[in-house]
Amino acid sequence: MIAILGAGSLGRLWAATLPAGQVAFVPRPQTSAESPCYRFHPVNGEPVPTSVPWLTPCQSPDLLLVTTKAGDTLSALQATLPSIPESTPIVLFQNGMGSQQAVSEHWPERSVLAASTTEGANRPSPDRLIHAGRGQTWVGALSGNAECHLETVVERLARSGLAIAPEADILARLWHKLVINAGINPFTAILDCANGDLLSQAFYQRWIAPLCREISNISQISGQPAEAPEAIRHRIEAVARSTSANTSSMRADVIAGRPTEIDYMNGYLSELGQRLGVKTPVNQMLTEQVKQLTRPYQQQESCDGQPP
Ligand code: PAF
Repeated sequence: MIAILGAGSLGRLWAATLPAGQVAFVPRPQTSAESPCYRFHPVNGEPVPTSVPWLTPCQSPDLLLVTTKAGDTLSALQATLPSIPESTPIVLFQNGMGSQQAVSEHWPERSVLAASTTEGANRPSPDRLIHAGRGQTWVGALSGNAECHLETVVERLARSGLAIAPEADILARLWHKLVINAGINPFTAILDCANGDLLSQAFYQRWIAPLCREISNISQISGQPAEAPEAIRHRIEAVARSTSANTSSMRADVIAGRPTEIDYMNGYLSELGQRLGVKTPVNQMLTEQVKQLTRPYQQQESCDGQPP
């Protein structure tokens, strides 16, 4: 049995594509008694009615996929892990960086793996899941004791039909994606525009070159693969163009009044820079501006419990 913690778009994509009967969602305090039911729209196919049961207390999963938002991961695992066997490998699917390392440090006795994915999925309404674009998923061991599970985990996830491969250096792979997210997500959230539209905006054009210089400096000092600022910008803009009509996950969070993952993207880079003695004023400025966007929602939510 594969347990999935986090019934958002990515969790639902894995639940809909892995063999039925082998997957269950981990219930969370806020979940209703009814198990998730939705219409799954494959990339090139007819919609499939999908119903995924909740994991019951007597079921003992032999694989745990964690598809929560980065900021929810530690608390969700704190509530869940007491009922999951210690031998069960955990695969983390969070965006950005920082939450993965926090989990492997918090539970050194557990086998922790991380995944980086370019699969595109979204939920236009609670009962629909659109697989918007086929991508690739890489999985690699984060903790030393997870290496021995890698082959089996990849083989089990491959039963979904999604493209999946083992990755020897998963931190480098996560970094590669973090750089793209740091150059697209905050700008699209602040400018409230689709990915492709940010390229023509004055605010983006003013800050993208100094941002890429900061990222390049941090990558050199932190031991990540060295990349020139121009190469970083080229990579960011290639993804912005190839996903030009998309709403980034951060812009979607701001629109929906949800907390964003900025602390795990530009916030993570800014903190890492500070620890390594690299100045990161642009990452700090972008982090602060994105936080300003969600602050009114968070304040109001804490007053009346309802997003506006
Ligand atoms: O976070 C996202 O939305 C995506 O990773 C990316 C690359 C910005 C494309 O929309």
